[in-house]
Amino acid sequence: MLIERLKLNNYRNYESLDIKFNKGFNVLTGDNAQGKTGVLEAIFLCALGRSHRTSRDSELIRYNCAGGYVGINLKNNQGDESVEIKLRIGENKKVFVNKIECKKIGELMGVLNTVMFSPEDLSLVKGSPQERRRFLDMEISQLSSEYFYTLQRYNKVLKQRNAVLKDDENMYGKGVLAIYDEQLSRLGSKITVKRREMTDTLSTVAHDIHKMISSSKEFLEIQYKADAGSFEKEDDIFDYMMESLIKNSSEDIRRGHTSTGPHRDDIIIKINGNDVRTYGSQGQQRTAALSLKLSEIALVRKIKGESPILLLDDVFSELDDERQNLLIEATRDCQCFLSCTSINSLKQTQIENVTVYECINGTLKQKSI
Ligand SMILES: Nc1ncnc2c1ncn2[C@@H]1O[C@H](COP(=O)(O)OP(=O)(O)OP(=O)(O)O)[C@@H](O)[C@H]1O
Ligand SMILES: [Mg+2]
Repeated sequence: MLIERLKLNNYRNYESLDIKFNKGFNVLTGDNAQGKTGVLEAIFLCALGRSHRTSRDSELIRYNCAGGYVGINLKNNQGDESVEIKLRIGENKKVFVNKIECKKIGELMGVLNTVMFSPEDLSLVKGSPQERRRFLDMEISQLSSEYFYTLQRYNKVLKQRNAVLKDDENMYGKGVLAIYDEQLSRLGSKITVKRREMTDTLSTVAHDIHKMISSSKEFLEIQYKADAGSFEKEDDIFDYMMESLIKNSSEDIRRGHTSTGPHRDDIIIKINGNDVRTYGSQGQQRTAALSLKLSEIALVRKIKGESPILLLDDVFSELDDERQNLLIEATRDCQCFLSCTSINSLKQTQIENVTVYECINGTLKQKSI
């Protein structure tokens, strides 16, 4: 996969940008707050239809502007494609693939595959279950628009059910809840199955990568921890969910939220059999996060048959030499976008085919090194 050109208008601190990129390594360098992450975010936005930093699209529009634009020309194994996002204050964003407006954002999934590395990746290991669910959801969504739709519908039904639970007027009867219970169980069982499948695949790949990074000293495994326990078949999970939703309904009404379902699930990351979140050293946690992200690259390659675009936001300063080299090794046949405040640390690494761009106050200029 290859991004050939990026256009921005009134997006973050960019008034207007039209730039072509190199096939290999694109390094964005510059002082803090100049717009480096903004470029990576724009690429991520075209891949997933949302920012990795915010869920509020209006924040992406340049201050005091009524609307903004992000456009990408890319090559994937389908040929030449374009993705465009049009943002307007007070309106939903519009997404276009090859100039045709998408009726649903899900139509965007898979056109452009990215894997983002950022200093916040550590929260994948250390953070809340929500962050690990988000990681899985984004990964599966990029590879399956059907999953993305199921997840969207699940979240909508969950919100509706919670609204009924919170209804102080007590207008609900168990009859209304029953409709939501059925829908939630149907969608929730599909989500659980897919997430478990993805976790198992990731676990196998991450195990091998981690073994290599730790010189065969550490064994990484990832397990999906489902609210539905060890049930694996969609039908069994459906039955379990229906039963628990009905059983817990009085408690749910008292609390005003739904206590059963994949919105409560988590993934457990273990090194040599111990939970890294609780027992891992800082270095082990960092390495586990890196192994997981590197597995994402391998997975996209396997499922899509082509390499994803890598977005490396200020990660090199966080990694020791050995891990820097491993990351570079993993990027071999990927187009990369890397942000850093100084290119000095990169000079020691073995990166080939590099173009450096200097980012100054919402402008990007190619720079010779
Ligand atoms: N909607 C917006 N309109 C205009 N400017 C914005 C908007 N949102 C963010 N900015 C500004 O854009 C600038 C660039 O932010 P960005 O995060 O891309 O910087 P960066 O180069 O990655 O910096 P760092 O090295 O600190 O990570 C910041 O000064 C930020 O305040
Ligand atoms: Mg930044």
